[in-house]
Amino acid sequence: MASKKTIVVLGATGNQGGSVVETFLQAGQWSIRGVTRNPNSEKALKLASRGVAVVTADLNDGNSLDAAFADAHAIFIVSDFWGIYGDPANATKPAQGETLNLWAARTEKQQLVNAIDAASKVPSLERLVLSSLPNCSKWSREKYTHVYHFDFKAQAAEYAQQAYPNLWAKTSVFQPGWFLGNYLSNPLVQPRRENDVVVFASSVKGDLKLPLIAPDEDSGPLVKALLEDSPGKNLIAYRQWMSLEEMVEIFAKVTGLSAQYVTLPAGEPDLPLPEGLKAELDDNWAYFNECGYEARDDPTVIHPNQLEECPKLGSVREWIQQQDWSFVAKAN
Ligand SMILES: NC(=O)c1ccc[n+]([C@@H]2O[C@H](COP(=O)([O-])OP(=O)(O)OC[C@H]3O[C@@H](n4cnc5c(N)ncnc54)[C@H](OP(=O)(O)O)[C@@H]3O)[C@@H](O)[C@H]2O)c1
Repeated sequence: MASKKTIVVLGATGNQGGSVVETFLQAGQWSIRGVTRNPNSEKALKLASRGVAVVTADLNDGNSLDAAFADAHAIFIVSDFWGIYGDPANATKPAQGETLNLWAARTEKQQLVNAIDAASKVPSLERLVLSSLPNCSKWSREKYTHVYHFDFKAQAAEYAQQAYPNLWAKTSVFQPGWFLGNYLSNPLVQPRRENDVVVFASSVKGDLKLPLIAPDEDSGPLVKALLEDSPGKNLIAYRQWMSLEEMVEIFAKVTGLSAQYVTLPAGEPDLPLPEGLKAELDDNWAYFNECGYEARDDPTVIHPNQLEECPKLGSVREWIQQQDWSFVAKAN
Protein backbone atom coordinates (compact mmCIF):
# COMPACT_ATOMS: atom_id res chain seq x y z
CA MET A 1 0.00 0.00 0.00
CA ALA A 2 1.36 3.45 -0.91
CA SER A 3 2.32 5.47 2.17
CA LYS A 4 0.02 8.32 3.12
CA LYS A 5 0.83 11.89 2.17
CA THR A 6 1.45 14.36 5.00
CA ILE A 7 -0.47 17.57 5.61
CA VAL A 8 0.95 20.01 8.16
CA VAL A 9 -1.69 22.19 9.81
CA LEU A 10 -0.86 25.40 11.65
CA GLY A 11 -3.46 26.57 14.17
CA ALA A 12 -4.47 22.92 14.67
CA THR A 13 -5.92 23.78 18.09
CA GLY A 14 -7.92 26.72 16.71
CA ASN A 15 -11.06 27.31 14.63
CA GLN A 16 -9.73 27.13 11.07
CA GLY A 17 -6.86 24.71 11.59
CA GLY A 18 -8.95 22.54 13.92
CA SER A 19 -11.58 22.16 11.22
CA VAL A 20 -8.90 21.32 8.64
CA VAL A 21 -7.54 18.61 10.96
CA GLU A 22 -11.03 17.20 11.53
CA THR A 23 -11.83 16.99 7.82
CA PHE A 24 -8.55 15.28 6.94
CA LEU A 25 -8.90 12.88 9.91
CA GLN A 26 -12.30 11.87 8.60
CA ALA A 27 -11.02 11.54 5.03
CA GLY A 28 -8.52 9.01 6.34
CA GLN A 29 -6.07 9.19 3.45
CA TRP A 30 -3.57 11.61 4.99
CA SER A 31 -1.05 11.68 7.81
CA ILE A 32 -1.80 14.82 9.77
CA ARG A 33 0.81 16.85 11.58
CA GLY A 34 -0.76 19.45 13.87
CA VAL A 35 1.36 22.43 14.97
CA THR A 36 1.00 24.05 18.38
CA ARG A 37 3.09 26.11 20.78
CA ASN A 38 1.88 23.97 23.66
CA PRO A 39 1.67 20.20 23.07
CA ASN A 40 0.38 19.70 26.62
CA SER A 41 -2.77 21.79 26.21
CA GLU A 42 -6.05 19.91 26.49
CA LYS A 43 -6.79 20.46 22.79
CA ALA A 44 -3.32 19.32 21.67
CA LEU A 45 -3.50 16.18 23.83
CA LYS A 46 -6.93 15.38 22.39
CA LEU A 47 -5.57 15.72 18.84
CA ALA A 48 -2.67 13.41 19.71
CA SER A 49 -5.10 10.84 21.15
CA ARG A 50 -6.93 10.84 17.80
CA GLY A 51 -3.83 10.05 15.76
CA VAL A 52 -2.60 13.54 14.89
CA ALA A 53 1.20 13.88 15.08
CA VAL A 54 1.38 16.93 17.34
CA VAL A 55 4.57 18.96 16.88
CA THR A 56 5.77 22.03 18.73
CA ALA A 57 6.62 25.13 16.72
CA ASP A 58 6.14 28.88 16.94
CA LEU A 59 5.39 31.22 14.05
CA ASN A 60 7.92 33.63 15.56
CA ASP A 61 10.67 31.02 15.19
CA GLY A 62 11.61 30.08 11.62
CA ASN A 63 13.82 27.13 12.69
CA SER A 64 10.93 25.51 14.52
CA LEU A 65 8.79 25.87 11.36
CA ASP A 66 11.53 24.28 9.21
CA ALA A 67 11.38 21.20 11.45
CA ALA A 68 7.56 21.14 11.56
CA PHE A 69 7.26 21.38 7.75
CA ALA A 70 9.91 18.75 6.87
CA ASP A 71 8.74 16.29 4.16
CA ALA A 72 5.25 17.80 3.99
CA HIS A 73 3.12 17.32 0.87
CA ALA A 74 0.59 19.99 1.90
CA ILE A 75 0.75 22.85 4.41
CA PHE A 76 -2.08 24.99 5.81
CA ILE A 77 -0.84 28.32 7.17
CA VAL A 78 -2.96 30.52 9.44
CA SER A 79 -2.01 33.39 11.74
CA ASP A 80 -3.82 34.93 14.71
CA PHE A 81 -3.93 38.73 14.74
CA TRP A 82 -6.29 38.95 17.71
CA GLY A 83 -4.16 36.60 19.79
CA ILE A 84 -1.16 38.87 19.22
CA TYR A 85 -3.20 42.04 19.86
CA GLY A 86 -4.79 40.66 23.03
CA ASP A 87 -1.69 39.13 24.64
CA PRO A 88 -0.89 41.30 27.71
CA ALA A 89 2.81 40.49 27.21
CA ASN A 90 2.69 42.49 23.96
CA ALA A 91 1.03 45.61 25.38
CA THR A 92 4.31 47.49 25.86
CA LYS A 93 6.07 46.27 22.71
CA PRO A 94 5.03 48.94 20.18
CA ALA A 95 7.55 51.74 19.69
CA GLN A 96 6.56 55.20 20.89
CA GLY A 97 3.92 56.61 18.55
CA GLU A 98 2.98 53.21 17.13
CA THR A 99 -0.45 51.82 17.97
CA LEU A 100 -0.75 48.29 19.34
CA ASN A 101 -2.95 47.19 16.43
CA LEU A 102 -0.36 48.34 13.87
CA TRP A 103 2.41 46.58 15.81
CA ALA A 104 0.29 43.41 16.05
CA ALA A 105 -0.34 43.39 12.30
CA ARG A 106 3.35 43.94 11.52
CA THR A 107 4.16 41.05 13.86
CA GLU A 108 1.49 38.89 12.22
CA LYS A 109 2.93 39.64 8.77
CA GLN A 110 6.42 38.66 9.95
CA GLN A 111 4.99 35.38 11.31
CA LEU A 112 3.39 34.67 7.92
CA VAL A 113 6.63 35.54 6.15
CA ASN A 114 8.47 33.11 8.46
CA ALA A 115 6.00 30.36 7.54
CA ILE A 116 6.17 31.17 3.81
CA ASP A 117 9.99 31.15 3.92
CA ALA A 118 9.90 27.75 5.66
CA ALA A 119 7.38 26.34 3.16
CA SER A 120 9.60 27.49 0.26
CA LYS A 121 12.32 25.13 1.52
CA VAL A 122 10.24 21.92 1.41
CA PRO A 123 11.09 19.95 -1.76
CA SER A 124 8.24 17.45 -1.26
CA LEU A 125 5.59 20.21 -1.05
CA GLU A 126 2.76 19.90 -3.57
CA ARG A 127 0.31 22.45 -2.18
CA LEU A 128 0.33 25.41 0.18
CA VAL A 129 -3.00 26.77 1.40
CA LEU A 130 -2.61 30.23 2.90
CA SER A 131 -5.32 31.73 5.10
CA SER A 132 -5.44 35.41 4.18
CA LEU A 133 -7.76 38.41 3.76
CA PRO A 134 -8.14 41.20 1.17
CA ASN A 135 -5.91 44.26 0.99
CA CYS A 136 -8.43 46.96 1.96
CA SER A 137 -6.05 49.85 1.19
CA LYS A 138 -5.54 48.57 -2.34
CA TRP A 139 -9.17 47.72 -3.15
CA SER A 140 -10.51 50.97 -1.62
CA ARG A 141 -7.90 52.86 -3.67
CA GLU A 142 -6.21 54.11 -0.47
CA LYS A 143 -9.48 55.38 1.05
CA TYR A 144 -9.49 52.91 3.98
CA THR A 145 -5.89 52.42 5.04
CA HIS A 146 -6.25 51.36 8.70
CA VAL A 147 -7.58 47.80 8.34
CA TYR A 148 -4.22 46.40 9.32
CA HIS A 149 -5.38 42.86 10.21
CA PHE A 150 -6.58 42.49 6.61
CA ASP A 151 -3.87 44.48 4.79
CA PHE A 152 -0.86 42.85 6.44
CA LYS A 153 -2.18 39.35 5.78
CA ALA A 154 -2.59 40.35 2.13
CA GLN A 155 0.93 41.82 2.09
CA ALA A 156 2.28 38.45 3.26
CA ALA A 157 0.50 36.74 0.35
CA GLU A 158 2.00 39.35 -2.01
CA TYR A 159 5.41 38.55 -0.52
CA ALA A 160 4.94 34.85 -1.32
CA GLN A 161 3.96 35.69 -4.88
CA GLN A 162 6.94 37.98 -5.46
CA ALA A 163 9.67 36.16 -3.53
CA TYR A 164 8.81 32.57 -4.47
CA PRO A 165 7.20 32.18 -7.91
CA ASN A 166 7.65 28.38 -7.73
CA LEU A 167 5.93 28.19 -4.36
CA TRP A 168 3.21 30.59 -5.52
CA ALA A 169 2.52 28.30 -8.49
CA LYS A 170 1.43 25.61 -5.99
CA THR A 171 -0.45 27.92 -3.60
CA SER A 172 -4.18 28.36 -3.00
CA VAL A 173 -5.54 31.27 -0.96
CA PHE A 174 -8.30 30.68 1.60
CA GLN A 175 -10.05 33.90 2.70
CA PRO A 176 -12.43 33.15 5.55
CA GLY A 177 -15.62 35.19 5.59
CA TRP A 178 -17.22 36.87 8.59
CA PHE A 179 -17.21 34.49 11.57
CA LEU A 180 -20.76 33.77 12.81
CA GLY A 181 -19.20 33.08 16.21
CA ASN A 182 -18.48 36.81 16.53
CA TYR A 183 -22.13 37.17 17.63
CA LEU A 184 -21.49 34.92 20.61
CA SER A 185 -18.02 35.91 21.71
CA ASN A 186 -17.17 39.38 20.45
CA PRO A 187 -18.54 42.15 22.69
CA LEU A 188 -18.18 44.62 19.81
CA VAL A 189 -20.94 42.97 17.76
CA GLN A 190 -22.83 40.77 20.23
CA PRO A 191 -26.59 41.36 20.17
CA ARG A 192 -28.15 43.20 23.13
CA ARG A 193 -31.59 42.98 24.63
CA GLU A 194 -33.45 46.30 24.50
CA ASN A 195 -36.82 45.90 26.22
CA ASP A 196 -38.39 42.97 24.37
CA VAL A 197 -36.23 43.19 21.27
CA VAL A 198 -32.87 41.58 20.54
CA VAL A 199 -30.88 44.22 18.71
CA PHE A 200 -27.96 43.46 16.41
CA ALA A 201 -26.31 46.79 15.60
CA SER A 202 -23.26 47.91 13.64
CA SER A 203 -22.33 50.35 10.91
CA VAL A 204 -22.20 47.52 8.36
CA LYS A 205 -25.19 48.16 6.08
CA GLY A 206 -28.06 45.82 6.89
CA ASP A 207 -28.64 44.86 3.24
CA LEU A 208 -24.97 44.24 2.34
CA LYS A 209 -24.42 40.59 1.35
CA LEU A 210 -21.63 39.09 3.44
CA PRO A 211 -19.79 35.76 3.30
CA LEU A 212 -20.94 34.12 6.57
CA ILE A 213 -18.83 31.23 7.83
CA ALA A 214 -18.68 28.93 10.85
CA PRO A 215 -14.86 28.61 10.69
CA ASP A 216 -14.65 25.64 13.05
CA GLU A 217 -17.00 23.60 10.82
CA ASP A 218 -16.59 24.98 7.30
CA SER A 219 -12.85 25.65 6.94
CA GLY A 220 -11.89 21.98 6.64
CA PRO A 221 -14.27 20.99 3.82
CA LEU A 222 -13.46 24.19 1.91
CA VAL A 223 -9.69 23.85 2.36
CA LYS A 224 -9.86 20.20 1.24
CA ALA A 225 -11.85 21.20 -1.86
CA LEU A 226 -9.28 23.93 -2.61
CA LEU A 227 -6.46 21.44 -2.18
CA GLU A 228 -8.10 18.97 -4.56
CA ASP A 229 -8.71 21.74 -7.13
CA SER A 230 -6.01 23.23 -9.34
CA PRO A 231 -3.60 25.63 -7.58
CA GLY A 232 -3.86 29.40 -7.90
CA LYS A 233 -7.47 29.71 -6.68
CA ASN A 234 -8.33 32.62 -4.35
CA LEU A 235 -11.44 31.51 -2.44
CA ILE A 236 -13.77 33.71 -0.44
CA ALA A 237 -14.85 31.05 2.03
CA TYR A 238 -18.38 30.90 3.44
CA ARG A 239 -21.43 28.72 4.09
CA GLN A 240 -24.00 31.33 3.01
CA TRP A 241 -23.92 34.66 1.21
CA MET A 242 -26.35 36.67 3.24
CA SER A 243 -27.08 40.14 4.56
CA LEU A 244 -27.19 40.83 8.30
CA GLU A 245 -30.88 41.80 7.99
CA GLU A 246 -31.56 38.37 6.49
CA MET A 247 -29.50 36.70 9.21
CA VAL A 248 -31.44 38.50 11.96
CA GLU A 249 -34.76 37.57 10.32
CA ILE A 250 -33.69 33.92 10.53
CA PHE A 251 -32.55 34.45 14.13
CA ALA A 252 -36.04 35.73 15.03
CA LYS A 253 -37.77 32.77 13.35
CA VAL A 254 -35.48 30.18 14.93
CA THR A 255 -35.45 31.58 18.48
CA GLY A 256 -39.00 32.97 18.57
CA LEU A 257 -37.57 36.25 19.88
CA SER A 258 -38.33 39.68 18.45
CA ALA A 259 -35.12 40.77 16.78
CA GLN A 260 -33.97 43.68 14.68
CA TYR A 261 -30.85 44.68 12.77
CA VAL A 262 -29.95 48.35 13.12
CA THR A 263 -27.52 49.99 10.68
CA LEU A 264 -25.67 52.62 12.69
CA PRO A 265 -24.12 55.74 11.12
CA ALA A 266 -20.45 55.44 10.10
CA GLY A 267 -18.18 55.58 13.14
CA GLU A 268 -20.83 54.12 15.48
CA PRO A 269 -21.04 52.55 17.96
CA ASP A 270 -18.71 54.97 19.67
CA LEU A 271 -17.23 52.38 22.01
CA PRO A 272 -14.46 53.17 24.49
CA LEU A 273 -11.73 51.52 22.40
CA PRO A 274 -8.05 52.42 22.06
CA GLU A 275 -7.82 55.09 19.35
CA GLY A 276 -5.88 52.89 16.93
CA LEU A 277 -8.33 50.01 17.13
CA LYS A 278 -11.33 52.34 16.78
CA ALA A 279 -9.83 53.76 13.55
CA GLU A 280 -9.14 50.22 12.31
CA LEU A 281 -12.69 49.00 12.93
CA ASP A 282 -14.35 52.15 11.56
CA ASP A 283 -12.36 51.69 8.35
CA ASN A 284 -13.13 47.96 8.36
CA TRP A 285 -16.93 48.45 8.36
CA ALA A 286 -16.77 51.33 5.86
CA TYR A 287 -14.57 49.21 3.56
CA PHE A 288 -17.13 46.36 3.73
CA ASN A 289 -19.94 48.78 2.79
CA GLU A 290 -18.12 50.26 -0.20
CA CYS A 291 -15.89 47.50 -1.53
CA GLY A 292 -17.54 44.29 -0.25
CA TYR A 293 -15.93 42.07 2.39
CA GLU A 294 -14.31 39.99 -0.34
CA ALA A 295 -13.02 42.97 -2.41
CA ARG A 296 -15.59 42.67 -5.17
CA ASP A 297 -13.28 44.40 -7.67
CA ASP A 298 -10.62 41.69 -7.24
CA PRO A 299 -10.98 39.60 -10.41
CA THR A 300 -9.13 36.63 -8.88
CA VAL A 301 -11.69 35.97 -6.12
CA ILE A 302 -13.83 32.86 -6.56
CA HIS A 303 -16.85 31.73 -4.55
CA PRO A 304 -17.37 28.18 -3.18
CA ASN A 305 -19.77 27.25 -6.01
CA GLN A 306 -16.90 27.91 -8.46
CA LEU A 307 -14.77 25.17 -6.93
CA GLU A 308 -14.54 21.96 -8.93
CA GLU A 309 -16.24 20.16 -6.02
CA CYS A 310 -18.21 22.51 -3.78
CA PRO A 311 -18.60 20.79 -0.39
CA LYS A 312 -22.00 20.58 1.28
CA LEU A 313 -21.95 22.83 4.34
CA GLY A 314 -24.53 23.60 7.01
CA SER A 315 -26.79 26.64 6.76
CA VAL A 316 -26.83 29.83 8.82
CA ARG A 317 -30.23 28.68 10.15
CA GLU A 318 -28.68 25.45 11.43
CA TRP A 319 -25.81 27.33 13.04
CA ILE A 320 -28.22 29.67 14.85
CA GLN A 321 -30.30 26.69 16.00
CA GLN A 322 -27.25 25.00 17.51
CA GLN A 323 -26.11 27.96 19.66
CA ASP A 324 -26.98 28.95 23.21
CA TRP A 325 -28.59 32.41 23.04
CA SER A 326 -29.60 32.53 26.71
CA PHE A 327 -27.48 35.67 27.21
CA VAL A 328 -30.02 37.65 25.12
CA ALA A 329 -33.08 35.46 25.48
CA LYS A 330 -33.97 36.71 28.95
CA ALA A 331 -35.00 40.26 29.83
CA ASN A 332 -32.49 42.09 32.05
N1 LIG B 1 -13.38 37.10 13.39
C1 LIG B 1 -13.61 37.06 12.10
O1 LIG B 1 -14.72 37.33 11.62
C2 LIG B 1 -12.48 36.68 11.16
C3 LIG B 1 -12.76 36.54 9.80
C4 LIG B 1 -11.72 36.16 8.93
C5 LIG B 1 -10.44 35.93 9.43
N2 LIG B 1 -10.21 36.09 10.76
C6 LIG B 1 -8.82 35.85 11.21
O2 LIG B 1 -8.74 34.55 11.78
C7 LIG B 1 -7.51 34.48 12.51
C8 LIG B 1 -7.69 33.56 13.69
O3 LIG B 1 -7.99 32.27 13.20
P1 LIG B 1 -8.74 31.19 14.09
O4 LIG B 1 -10.03 31.80 14.61
O5 LIG B 1 -8.80 29.96 13.29
O6 LIG B 1 -7.72 31.04 15.29
P2 LIG B 1 -8.02 30.71 16.82
O7 LIG B 1 -9.16 29.76 16.95
O8 LIG B 1 -8.10 32.01 17.58
O9 LIG B 1 -6.69 29.97 17.25
C9 LIG B 1 -5.42 30.51 17.04
C10 LIG B 1 -4.52 29.36 16.61
O10 LIG B 1 -3.26 29.91 16.21
C11 LIG B 1 -2.24 29.20 16.89
N3 LIG B 1 -1.16 30.16 17.13
C12 LIG B 1 -1.29 31.41 17.64
N4 LIG B 1 -0.08 32.00 17.73
C13 LIG B 1 0.82 31.10 17.28
C14 LIG B 1 2.24 31.13 17.14
N5 LIG B 1 2.97 32.19 17.49
N6 LIG B 1 2.84 30.04 16.63
C15 LIG B 1 2.13 28.93 16.29
N7 LIG B 1 0.78 28.85 16.40
C16 LIG B 1 0.15 29.93 16.89
C17 LIG B 1 -2.85 28.68 18.17
O11 LIG B 1 -2.18 27.51 18.56
P3 LIG B 1 -1.60 27.21 20.04
O12 LIG B 1 -2.23 28.18 20.99
O13 LIG B 1 -2.02 25.78 20.29
O14 LIG B 1 -0.14 27.38 19.90
C18 LIG B 1 -4.28 28.36 17.73
O15 LIG B 1 -4.37 27.08 17.18
C19 LIG B 1 -7.15 35.90 12.88
O16 LIG B 1 -5.92 36.26 12.27
C20 LIG B 1 -8.31 36.74 12.32
O17 LIG B 1 -7.86 37.99 11.81
C21 LIG B 1 -11.19 36.42 11.63
